Amino acid sequence: MVATFLGAFSLLVTQADPFLLHEKTPCLGVGYYGSSYSGKYHFFGTSDNACVDLATSSSLMQPVTVHAGDSSQLVWLEKAAVDPSVISGESFSLDLLIQNLQALSPRPLEEQQQVLGAIEEPFFEVLNADDISNTALLRMGRTMALSIDTHLPPVYRSMLIPSTPMSLIPVSSPAIGRVQEILSHVKFDPSIAGIVNNISLPQMQNDIRFLTGEDPKSSIVSRHSFSDGVLVAAQWLKDRFEETGAECALEPFLSGFAPNVICEYSATINTTETVLLSAHYDSRGSFGSTRAPGGDDDGSGTIALLAIARTIARKGITFKKNVQLVAFAGEEQGLLGSRAYARQLRAADADLVLMVQADMLGYHKAGEPAQLGLPETIGTLEVTQLVANLSAIYSPELKVGFTPACCSDHQSFHEQGFPATQVFERAGPIVDPMYHNSGDLSDREGYDFEQIKSIAKVQFATLLHAAGFDLDDKAHHES
Ligand SMILES: *[C@@H]1O[C@H](CO)[C@@H](O)[C@H](O)[C@H]1NC(C)=O
Ligand SMILES: *[C@@H]1O[C@H](CO)[C@@H](O)[C@H](O)[C@H]1NC(C)=O
Ligand SMILES: *[C@@H]1O[C@H](CO)[C@@H](O)[C@H](O)[C@H]1NC(C)=O
Ligand SMILES: [Zn+2]
Repeated sequence: MVATFLGAFSLLVTQADPFLLHEKTPCLGVGYYGSSYSGKYHFFGTSDNACVDLATSSSLMQPVTVHAGDSSQLVWLEKAAVDPSVISGESFSLDLLIQNLQALSPRPLEEQQQVLGAIEEPFFEVLNADDISNTALLRMGRTMALSIDTHLPPVYRSMLIPSTPMSLIPVSSPAIGRVQEILSHVKFDPSIAGIVNNISLPQMQNDIRFLTGEDPKSSIVSRHSFSDGVLVAAQWLKDRFEETGAECALEPFLSGFAPNVICEYSATINTTETVLLSAHYDSRGSFGSTRAPGGDDDGSGTIALLAIARTIARKGITFKKNVQLVAFAGEEQGLLGSRAYARQLRAADADLVLMVQADMLGYHKAGEPAQLGLPETIGTLEVTQLVANLSAIYSPELKVGFTPACCSDHQSFHEQGFPATQVFERAGPIVDPMYHNSGDLSDREGYDFEQIKSIAKVQFATLLHAAGFDLDDKAHHES
């Protein structure tokens, strides 16, 4: 299906390998708009008609032409890799889903003015819908686009297509070589085992209850990127990380969205090399529900990050490379916080050794062993291998395997050519019945703090091996 508007700009959705496609069609080179969460679809944009013809002649879906520069937003819809057992009760066809969205639009004009401070044409348009692959490309007003995730059934994810292209850069051979070098030196280190085992499980239990609002002292009801609660969480996280000796900043990336929480421990030696661990602290509910406690998605990754920071302080650890611990916002709307940050790091030619994102660490089915899932599609193989090997060494209790439940904020770094991978709760698709649900609390069956600790140990061991460290035995910060 092709829609044409004034001032042709075509978005091409392809399943071809983006690097190969770029090689065959160099005119697309400056127009990469990222990949979908599944890693199966890649977006290219161009206003050059000859280029569109050339690209469509090679294994592409139909291009969609839109009016560049208007206030509309392109939104990609895709089904997440959720196990059928979780969605048996939910028979939502793509058609019905789109009808429901259509019914939401146009929103009242006053509401749009409130959010954007400007009048916006209310519209909603289906550019392409494919009920075999369960994907759709939609065009709508910005206001609706920014909250579309809350109107979807849990198994659907929405991604706002960026308004400007990003670089399509492979991870460089020297960067891969550096990870291989770290991998080649991996062997059991008793001091690292002592450090990672020091992660406090009761502390994580406290921390998650604040973030979900299960703690009566917490005012948080939701950590959706536009909620009041997410801002409370941002400030609370900044304060907690700073207590551990990190320098933190709340960095806004898009008007109306909660900021990224970016924390750093500077290296003890003069180096630009940086190792980054992350999680996303925003969350989502579904079907218009305002409560989004995000105990698993991604409170679990967030408390793992905080547990690592608290242990760094308790053990008086200093690093030989710069270390960043980052809690991203806007993940649920299309990796928006991490895309902004990764873009910024690329523009600054940052010297990122590797990054590991933790997203959903807490849930597994009753009867299943504790697990560690690594990304099947998007990620740097060498970083994934490093994480797998360190898991075998420091968390042998975890059964390691691959998951199709890609993708989280590591994708943003992968897209910008930085070595990146993700850690996830299961070697298989998502089975958490509370996925994108108001019932995603920590106090429930299947939510396993031991598994969160085991995976946090792996993320921490990756940091310690990659960054190098010293222990100050005299330091005993209370945290
Ligand atoms: C990583 O683990 C794999 C599988 O156990 C093993 O074959 C490989 O030698 C390990 N690599 C290193 C560098 O330890
Ligand atoms: C962590 O280490 C500190 C001392 O460095 C010790 O007091 C504490 O009990 C340890 N905690 C755990 C959970 O191992
Ligand atoms: C750190 O290293 C850079 C590049 O090697 C050098 O230009 C700079 O002066 C050094 N800074 C300090 C404080 O030694
Ligand atoms: Zn998530």
